[in-house]
Parts: sequence; structure tokens; C-alpha cells
Amino acid sequence: MRIDIMTLFPETTGAVLHESIIGRAGKKGIVDIRCWQIRDYTENRQMQVDDYPYGGGRGCVMMAQPLKSCLDAVIGDAGECRRRVIYMSPQGRPYDQATARRLAEDYDQLVLVCGHYEGIDERFIEECVDEEISLGDFVLTGGEIAAMAVADSVCRMIPGVLSEEICFTEESHWDGLLEYPQYTRPEEWQGRRVPEVLLSGDHAKVDRWRRRMSLERTMQKRPDMFEKADLSSREDRKLLEEIEKNKNRVTLTEKTALKMASEEDLPVLTEMVRSLLPGEADRLFVHELPSLEENLLWAVQCGECWIILHGEEPAGFFCLREGPAEHLDEIRDGKWHYDGSYGILDSFAVIPRYRGSGLSDRMIREAEVLAGAQGKTAVRVEIHRRNEAAKKLLDRCSFRFRGNIPGILPDGQEWRGQGFEKGIS
Ligand SMILES: C[S@@+](CC[C@H](N)C(=O)[O-])C[C@H]1O[C@@H](n2cnc3c(N)ncnc32)[C@H](O)[C@@H]1O
Repeated sequence: MRIDIMTLFPETTGAVLHESIIGRAGKKGIVDIRCWQIRDYTENRQMQVDDYPYGGGRGCVMMAQPLKSCLDAVIGDAGECRRRVIYMSPQGRPYDQATARRLAEDYDQLVLVCGHYEGIDERFIEECVDEEISLGDFVLTGGEIAAMAVADSVCRMIPGVLSEEICFTEESHWDGLLEYPQYTRPEEWQGRRVPEVLLSGDHAKVDRWRRRMSLERTMQKRPDMFEKADLSSREDRKLLEEIEKNKNRVTLTEKTALKMASEEDLPVLTEMVRSLLPGEADRLFVHELPSLEENLLWAVQCGECWIILHGEEPAGFFCLREGPAEHLDEIRDGKWHYDGSYGILDSFAVIPRYRGSGLSDRMIREAEVLAGAQGKTAVRVEIHRRNEAAKKLLDRCSFRFRGNIPGILPDGQEWRGQGFEKGIS
């Protein structure tokens, strides 16, 4: 691809386009970007490129002659090829990725004409210009910034400029959607963690998550684009159903933080436990005190209860107790793998709006970090064997099933527990 930019500021314009990725592509000969000084083609002694507008009015207009002479030189230099002469103009068609793609695919040479002052003589446009392109509905002082934008966006689609085609086909606007969010190291920054799925190493899951995020953010940020996007594939329809089902769930936009529950938090904590673990609240806290309130007070006083905050909002809780616990030794059909001291994670939940947001995974990881800081070699968890949601959560967090833990609850009911464990590295 060859791009010739006709401008009154060739040095500035060229300097930008000869840097970085596009600059390197230029050095390798994959693209050829040249900037031409329109003033060099004037035929008057003052090298004047502009004059007063006929009919009066403010400012000056660029004359047709230097523009035409410059264009002739550009065409003469390039010779026969698939060429498009484009005037950068606020009156042109608004530029977009589809136009960039068309220009990259359909032409060998683009000549980008930059106006200045009040613009250029209309007769040059009529005589020589194939197409007018606008950078957007605003007015710039000159066409250079627009020409640089067009040159950059077209060049990055030329094979060899970026390392792989996927570098631009996965980006915003290629298929009518915005790109998914991106993250790099560290895993946690200012209390904000990278979504767990991106750390899972499961490429299929990562791809699915990315497509879903792409759909979701286009829906939120650019409903105009979303309406036009082709989302007819089976996979997209399934993802859209999922998004619809979860539309009231929270997206983790605020910082999350752990807080050791204090006695002040008891009312909030009691309410959370009662609403999140209905019917089980009293029996799940295993300090064997008669009521949930007493059990919670005891756990809080032992420093075992933790609340996870999303911004200022208490969004979930867990209890991390010190092992050993005799009832865990009752494990059948398997055994615990880690010797040494362990932490026991029990009674964990997040409030329903946060389900599916990644907060539960984050909370479990926080519990592991806490146990590690307390010098534990493993974390053990006991859940009811029918608690599928907890099983999935533990699986995502790399806890492993170790065996069954049958028992009888204080109220005489049979309890069918299962033990899961994770070593702390
Ligand atoms: C101040 S503008 C002239 C605007 C012109 N008098 C009008 O109202 O349509 C000077 C030059 O900047 C460039 N320019 C300004 N806004 C632009 C935009 N939105 N997109 C592309 N080029 C633009 C054009 O090359 C134009 O000739």
C-alpha cells in the first residue's frame, strides 16, 4: 500500500507516521508513506497557496492550481495503479472501520489531500477528488490529523504490518462489535483483580467469556452498533440468552476489599447469613451454641468472620476457622491429602445480585490468601453433597474432592457432607 499525503506540513505529518508500528512497516517496505509539500507546486513568486474567497467573507481558500500540480506530480511518481484521491473534509462521509477496510482492500495507492484555512477551491474537488472523508462531525484546523488517522488505520490492516491478522480482526469495530476488556500484570491492582476466567488457562472458556463481554459492552456502550450487528450464530444467541438472564447482576466495577467482621457488623452479617443460607443458618455455624446470633458473636470474637465489600457494599461473607476439627476426620471413601495445620472454610455466600460476577471466586481466593498468611498448608471445606453451586465454585478455584463426610446434625437430621481440599503453595 502506498499513501501520499498532500499537505502544507509534510514534516510534522510524516514524523508521526514514520514512528512505531507503521514506521517499522515503512522501513520493511510493506507500506510506503510519502508527504508532499503543496507549496512546492505554486507558480507565483511568493509561493502563495491561498487567496481571498470570491464573494467576500473571512479567511483564505487554498487555490486549485498548486493542489492540481502537486497531485499530478504524485500520480506521475506512482504510475498506473488502483488509486483513490481523497479529500479530508468535515463535509465528507464520516470515517469508520468499514471504510478503512474497503480502502485497504480495494486500492494500491491512496492520495490524501489536506486542506487548511477556510478549505480548498471547490473546482479542485470537482475535477480531481474521488471521495471526501470526514473524521467526524467537528471542524479541524487542517486535514493532517484526519489524514494521519486514515493512513494509520488503513496501514495496520495491510498484511505484515501487525504480527497476525487476528490482531485487528479481534479488535473493536471489525465485526460490528466492541472488543472485550483487556488486562495485563499484576493480577491485582489497587484492590481490583483480573477476572478469574482469564487466569484459568482454559482457552475455550476465555474465548467464550471474551465474546460475551464483547456483546455486553457493545449493548451498553454502543446500542446503535449493537442493533446492526449480526448475532445470528448459535453461540451468540446462547450468550445473549445468558446476558438477558443475568442482566440484574452486578458488574465488578468498584474495588473489592476484605474486612474482618466486628461486633458492629453483627446485624448486617446476621441478616446476610439468614437470607443467604435460609433454613441452614443455625446449623451451619458449628460452634454448637443454641442460636445463630450467639454462634456469630463467638465467631466474630474469634476473628473468623470476614465480609467482602464491593465499594462500600457488603456483598458476601465467609468464615475461616482454625483446624483441626474432629468431624472432618470422619472422611470416608477417600482421604485428606495435606498433613499439617489447615484452615476450614465454611458458611460462605455472596448476595444474589453478585452471583455470576466473579465475586465468589475472588472471595474464595481471598480466603486462601488469609489461610496462607496464617501459616496453613491447606484449606478444607465441607459442603452438602447436593450443593451443586458450591461444587462448581470450588472446582473453579481448584479445590479437589477428597471423600464423603456423613454425620448427624444436632437436630437429629442426617447430614451428607462432602470434603474438598486445596493445598496452599
Ligand atoms: C477549518 S477547515 C475548513 C472547514 C470548511 N470551511 C467548512 O466549514 O466545511 C480546514 C481544513 O481542515 C480539514 N478538516 C476540518 N475538519 C475536518 C474533519 N472533520 N475531517 C477531515 N478533515 C477536516 C479539511 O481538510 C479542511 O479543508
